[in-house]
Amino acid sequence: MDKIRIRGGKPLFGEIVIGGAKNAALPLMAAGLLTDERLVLTNVPRLDDIRNMRQLLANHGIAVDLPGNDGRILSLGGPIGNTEAPYDIVRKMRASFLVLGPLLARMGEARVSLPGGCAIGARPVDLHLKGLEQMGAVIRIEGGYVIATAPGGLRGTTIVMPFPSVGATENLLMAASLAQGQTVLANAAREPEISDLTDCLIAMGARITGRGTDKLTIEGVSSLHGATHPIISDRIETGTYACAAAISGGEVFLRGGRGDHLGALIRSLGEAGVEVSEREGGLAVKRLNGLHGADVMTEPYPGFPTDMQAQFMALMSVASGASMVTEKIFESRFMHVPELNRMGANITVHGESAIVRGVAQLSGAPVMATDLRASVSLIIAGLAARGDTIVNRVYHLDRGFEAVEQKLAACGADIERLPG
Ligand code: EPZ
Repeated sequence: MDKIRIRGGKPLFGEIVIGGAKNAALPLMAAGLLTDERLVLTNVPRLDDIRNMRQLLANHGIAVDLPGNDGRILSLGGPIGNTEAPYDIVRKMRASFLVLGPLLARMGEARVSLPGGCAIGARPVDLHLKGLEQMGAVIRIEGGYVIATAPGGLRGTTIVMPFPSVGATENLLMAASLAQGQTVLANAAREPEISDLTDCLIAMGARITGRGTDKLTIEGVSSLHGATHPIISDRIETGTYACAAAISGGEVFLRGGRGDHLGALIRSLGEAGVEVSEREGGLAVKRLNGLHGADVMTEPYPGFPTDMQAQFMALMSVASGASMVTEKIFESRFMHVPELNRMGANITVHGESAIVRGVAQLSGAPVMATDLRASVSLIIAGLAARGDTIVNRVYHLDRGFEAVEQKLAACGADIERLPG
């Protein structure tokens, strides 16, 4: 298995191109199941999660073509030949569960494996299922699968979500687009990825109002048509490289990065002494003087993103003073803490909060993490550590960060992939 080696101490200078957002691309790909015509997505990131989703869609029988020569255009569509999403694919990637709403809306039936728990928490799918049941789906669980039918078709209704789940909002939004009548999704998630999905659905002929708010109103239509849609840039990749630049003490331009998608992260970086300024075509990031401790608490968008918690904690591990990092979205998303401590960080976890007491210097060590964002936080720490850091289990990184070592090396980092 590949590893990444980083020798810390080099400030980053230069430009990093931010790719298309993984967490926008995955639901957009599932939306390809909503029409017989072609949905063409551009700015597609080259990631293992995208490959998994392609495999799943191909398994449903639709065409999944990469017409360009750089793998950044994806053309999806055609008749659905199979409504089962098998365990072997779903267990690798939870976002596979997003095919449930589209399959049910279009075909009136679906058999989708339950994803099960994962490294960052139990992650149930009850909100997806309750919402679909309210729309008239009949659902039972059998043999680890959700078996759903919609005998009379899905019907619009008002669904008040007890928590603004990103995935449930996406599943229900797609299902409602082809349901009979009006659906109101109240307390919906407002992440930029949901607005991107909304834009794409509207381009496909869906009738949705309330884009970007917590109340989405959908007038169901009988069919959707093809469209071409550019995927928004990845706000988590943007934030990650902002933390990397800040911890290294350099200055980078994040081409394609969007300040209006960063939510509370911009304010937290500012409190920590990191300047993020909007420039034409992207964001300029630089550390002003020293890094200062800043408290953060993860929340649904526009609050501080849980997908940036590990990277920000790595940054705080070398800030002056203490910071409290509170994780409110996932119950066990602190796996990076013992690994950061192995590198000399001083972090103590109490329940859902971690107290980070900044240290003057980290030292390189062999480390590993069991999720994507935790893995990249160890790379960030490695950029500031004395000596070599070896990050093991790189396959987590490859799920969601494209060419991380090339992007950092181009800005002067001493980093390389060691094939395993
Ligand atoms: C999405 O996951 C992202 N994944 C996650 O990114 C991200 O961390 C998360 O949103 C929060 O921003 C994709 O977009 C593919 P949720 P999702 O439903 O949709 C609970 C990454 O690293 N919940 O908003 O699964 C759940 O257990 C990944 O790229 C229920 O209780 O997130 C969690 O505690 C990791 N019942 C909370 O809500 C449900 O039916 C938020 O989950 C659904 C969710």
